[in-house]
Amino acid sequence: MPKTLEIKDLHVSIESKQILKGVNLKVAQGEIHAVMGPNGSGKSTLANTLMGHPKYKVDSGDILVNGESIVGLPPDQRAKKGLFLAFQYPLEISGVPLAQFLRSAYRSVKGEGQQKTETKGVGGEMISALAFKKKLEEKLKEVDLDPSFTKRYLNEGFSGGEKKRAEILQMAILQPAIAIMDETDSGLDIDAVRRVAEVVSRMAGPEMGVLIITHYQRILDYIKPQFVHIMVDGRIFQSGGPELARVLEEKGYEWTEQQTTSTAN
Ligand SMILES: Nc1ncnc2c1ncn2[C@@H]1O[C@H](COP(=O)(O)OP(=O)(O)OP(=O)(O)O)[C@@H](O)[C@H]1O
Ligand SMILES: [Mg+2]
Repeated sequence: MPKTLEIKDLHVSIESKQILKGVNLKVAQGEIHAVMGPNGSGKSTLANTLMGHPKYKVDSGDILVNGESIVGLPPDQRAKKGLFLAFQYPLEISGVPLAQFLRSAYRSVKGEGQQKTETKGVGGEMISALAFKKKLEEKLKEVDLDPSFTKRYLNEGFSGGEKKRAEILQMAILQPAIAIMDETDSGLDIDAVRRVAEVVSRMAGPEMGVLIITHYQRILDYIKPQFVHIMVDGRIFQSGGPELARVLEEKGYEWTEQQTTSTAN
């Protein structure tokens, strides 16, 4: 059975201001969904709520992973259930080299329940340092990041594109069931967009589902979504196939505004 993320009639507020007003969406492992929509429509709010950011209050509705509600669970528990969030603006952590950060992230996410498959025959021990090093080297190549980066402090002095690649590296190491990516194209040059997108597409095989939030059709030329959703004013205004992204590119969001006002009147 593929793992699923199901968002049901989700209402979310921040500091008592209602932002999400009934979002419905279902993402299964192996599917790529894109969410587009004008600034301030609630896309990042959705991503942050999915990961359990404490500022975002779920007023009603539900978020289910494999049919079980995760509302109320802290972010690390959600990660253990297979969710991963790539931030719009990745954090810098001074004093923690990238390799160490990745290893502890890996341990914390895979720590319980999954260690049997990772260390078959090694008596329940966590992945060995050597095995992890091998995995890391392999994934570094995949995301095209120089191995010297693993010794540098997390994101400190990384360029925008390098931060993004470090984040995709984290995703490649953790192999989440569902990856939520917010604005992965921001700050990347054209070649970097293509490379990051290629890595993500490769990962998004039968093993990973992707919910990608983006403003640009450009990245969707490389990460090909089967489903495109347009969010307007805290709701999914319209869902469709990849052609919907093209309609948006041509007509812009004004088109959605006209549609919402005409249906409201
Ligand atoms: N921490 C916060 N405190 C107060 N208001 C917030 C907070 N976070 C988001 N909002 C408000 O919620 C609304 C939705 O914001 P959100 O960041 O979800 O939009 P978005 O669709 O991601 O926009 P963009 O395309 O610009 O990234 C905005 O009006 C924003 O000002
Ligand atoms: Mg946003």
